[in-house]
Amino acid sequence: MTSHDAPGTALVTGASSGIGWEYATRLAARGRHLVLVARRAERLEALAEEASKAGAAGVETLVADLARPEDLARVAERVSGDDVDLLVNNAGINGYGPFAEVDADLLGRVLNVNVVALTALTRAAVPGMLARGRGAVINVASLLAFAGDLPPDRLPQRAVYAGSKGYAVTFTRTLAAELADAPVRVQVVCPGLTATEFHLGAGDTPVSGERRIHDEGGMPAADVVTASLAGLETGEVVCVPGLTEADAVARLAAAELDLRRGSGARMAPRYGRTDERAE
Ligand SMILES: NC(=O)c1ccc[n+]([C@@H]2O[C@H](COP(=O)([O-])OP(=O)(O)OC[C@H]3O[C@@H](n4cnc5c(N)ncnc54)[C@H](OP(=O)(O)O)[C@@H]3O)[C@@H](O)[C@H]2O)c1
Repeated sequence: MTSHDAPGTALVTGASSGIGWEYATRLAARGRHLVLVARRAERLEALAEEASKAGAAGVETLVADLARPEDLARVAERVSGDDVDLLVNNAGINGYGPFAEVDADLLGRVLNVNVVALTALTRAAVPGMLARGRGAVINVASLLAFAGDLPPDRLPQRAVYAGSKGYAVTFTRTLAAELADAPVRVQVVCPGLTATEFHLGAGDTPVSGERRIHDEGGMPAADVVTASLAGLETGEVVCVPGLTEADAVARLAAAELDLRRGSGARMAPRYGRTDERAE
């Protein structure tokens, strides 16, 4: 396995604030060439300056709205370039709110950014990485991916967001299994509440002005990135930055194995008899 400290090109989506900004500055300090993607051009320009000072070999900014197919296609084209050996799919929006009331178009954009773009960019990146024998993809999900049956009490109302992050987790774990013998690593990062501007805005309207942090607390974004990059080096597929008992991930896999025992041809007895159902 090639070291991911090697100064190739890293493309980071959602680089204009929070966790993405931290990935960018950290990777800059490792001497990488960076491609920074987000909608807010001024933020990207400010980050480009900071990243250059931090040691980036070079910086490109790519202003794009990943919810728009034509913008996504431009970013996918850049990701498929033969210099890119690290893709960080970090951009994400939440679309929180009561499912029956939240704007249906916004939910579509949540899926476009959190699911469609993440998948399309990974698909654009991986073939070249496989051909060159090196590369990595980091997908930023959320611990809300595992909060499906918890009521929206203290947690946000989040069915579509949680579903999109559940997709990121299952997609990444399954792809990791598919690529287990390949020289390309994939990782899904599942932060808990993180101190960014994620909860400052409504819908997917970008927060204006200087970078800020929401009032809800949470782990510093820098620690999320430290955990992710350390976990990537050790081959950790599911990285939960705040999780002390890392074997919880293995216990999840064991519980899934139990569930898959339900894949047999015979219906479980608690549902009654098949012939009774037909009457
Ligand atoms: N903060 C938390 O508590 C938390 C917890 C778990 C997981 N996460 C996940 O962490 C990731 C980063 O979030 P964050 O906390 O750093 O929030 P953030 O500060 O709001 O950053 C979100 C980033 O995504 C970009 N983005 C949003 N919509 C976009 C679009 N349509 N096209 C391109 N870029 C877009 C934003 O840039 P522009 O607005 O400039 O486009 C921004 O750079 C997200 O995937 C989020 O779901 C966050």
